[in-house]
Amino acid sequence: MRRTLAILALTLTCAAPALAQSSTSSASAPLPAAPAVLLTDAINRPGQDLSGLWAYSTDLYRTAETDINGRPPAPRAMRYRDISVDAEVAKKPDTEFFEFDMDKAPKAALPGAWNAAEPELRWFDGLMWYQRHFTAEAAGNRRAFLRFEAVNYRVKVYVNGQLAGQHEGGFTPFSIEVGKLLRAGDNQVTIGVDSTHDATTVPPTVTDWDIYGGVTRPIRLIYTPETFIDDEFLHLDLDGHIRGGMHLNGASAGNRDVSVKIGAGKAIALKTDGNGDAKIDITAPKGLKLWSPDSPTLYDVTFTAGNDTLTDHIGFRTIQARGTDILLNGKPIFLRGISMHEEEFGSNPARRMTPEAIRALLTEVKEGLHGNFVRLAHYPHSELTTRMADEMGLMIWSEIPVYWSVDFGNEKTLSTARHMLAENILRDRNRASIIVWSVGNETPNTPERNRFLATLADDARARDGTRLISAALLVSHNMKDGHIEMAIDDPLVEHLDLMAANTYNGWYGDDTLADVAKETWTMPAGKPMIFSEFGADALAGFHDATRPVKFTEEYQAEFYRRTLAMADRIPALRGMSPWILKDFQSPRRQHPVYQNGWNRKGLMSETGVRKEAFDVLANYYIGKEKD
Ligand code: GCU
Repeated sequence: MRRTLAILALTLTCAAPALAQSSTSSASAPLPAAPAVLLTDAINRPGQDLSGLWAYSTDLYRTAETDINGRPPAPRAMRYRDISVDAEVAKKPDTEFFEFDMDKAPKAALPGAWNAAEPELRWFDGLMWYQRHFTAEAAGNRRAFLRFEAVNYRVKVYVNGQLAGQHEGGFTPFSIEVGKLLRAGDNQVTIGVDSTHDATTVPPTVTDWDIYGGVTRPIRLIYTPETFIDDEFLHLDLDGHIRGGMHLNGASAGNRDVSVKIGAGKAIALKTDGNGDAKIDITAPKGLKLWSPDSPTLYDVTFTAGNDTLTDHIGFRTIQARGTDILLNGKPIFLRGISMHEEEFGSNPARRMTPEAIRALLTEVKEGLHGNFVRLAHYPHSELTTRMADEMGLMIWSEIPVYWSVDFGNEKTLSTARHMLAENILRDRNRASIIVWSVGNETPNTPERNRFLATLADDARARDGTRLISAALLVSHNMKDGHIEMAIDDPLVEHLDLMAANTYNGWYGDDTLADVAKETWTMPAGKPMIFSEFGADALAGFHDATRPVKFTEEYQAEFYRRTLAMADRIPALRGMSPWILKDFQSPRRQHPVYQNGWNRKGLMSETGVRKEAFDVLANYYIGKEKD
């Protein structure tokens, strides 16, 4: 339930000139350009939802892309053609034939990854064509955009047989302008989704989660005025100012009167510069109710530019690292967290993250575990999730999938990661719940990787200096005086505000749980540290209380008890997000009794059955609630 308060009168201190959409990073390289169209807060714009049944046609050998010799494809394979196959054959019944027919093809409900559509697609990893028809209103003098919230992994979009646009990256939104391609009445949209990854993609081929190829979040047709509000953002700074900006897109974006209104307060008049940018810098009133997990206050903020109005729901808070402390609104906090993949409860998930599915997961964190923090691993999750975290009062770690063996020496890969980071930040920087931008997970300490991730950390700080920059780090395992000594000795730490360590002693390797209890940690001084991961597998309902047996609930529970006791002895520890809330699908986990394609480190089963370790962590967090 959102709590919106009428804001007290605000006074404008200055409306400084232009806001650079892509200012130069603090690093050597300038920031990559923002997408040409952001449609920030599109979720609050009216639009035509194109969810529903779409015809689909697999194309494992990409016959619609090229022929067998790499030349242009044969028309009989081009799924995106603006034709009726029957009508084309009727024109030349003696010779014409096709090797697809989207009008007679099976249908799948979008959004939802194809692995859940049909059993035979469970392991399909390749090029899939989706198509549907829709009736579009006449655009008139408006502009029309197809907005995709996420398509995994790369996609080409055709409207009425014409290539309209394409995108790479499985977890961030993109908008394609289609006004000139639409026609009054019936229109046909075809999208070619290619789920394949390789050594140069982000993430690379091997991960520890399911393929989940396809259209995993909604598609909408959105109309805007000729000149519209393409971006708007506000945040509370440590000096008590509310700062941010607006960016207009369109022929009359420059030197336009615009305004921003927080809550029921007075609208504040601004003017855009020649680039269509207006900078906002407001002295926040003393009466401003700050956002926090215990009081997740959101304000309706209305941005107006001529006949375009956008109302976003924004919370105001500050987050900072000071010494080894993390301060929320100036007060030290302990992050009582858990990690989460984007996967709904159920035995056949398809990443269909409906509000109900998201609420079911986040309620287990907030009310079940008494948590205040969620690591949205390992990629940007649905905007519905980050908005619900705003409303429910959960702080968020947001991450891009620079995961494991990325091709760190490849400039194209770096460019892909930089654009993905930009799209993530530009989509979510109004979300008070997000306190951390993470630039990677478990990446090896090499010169190429250090440069790659330092560039991303600098990009994140340049694009949004109001949040903590972090990455989940690999750590060193040594023996000293007969006990395990772990070390965070990653040179990347100097580019991070928050140190985050993944550790699995007591699960992977030969350490016993008794060893874990005695382990010590060394790390650079002067920064806060969290455990971004620790965990053990357990098959829900598998018990053996007589002795420590891996995959039993008892072993997982004891793993948590020993690890939590060890964690309490780390002076700079300021939180944790254990791995993981619930069991999730992974092709890497194939023990026929305990796993069957599921990673079983969840504190809950895939259907939401709590395991014994769930209460171990919940009781630990209840004891931390005063922190
Ligand atoms: C790794 C990785 C996770 C993985 C987990 C595991 O640390 O970050 O994505 O699922 O450990 O091995 O279960």
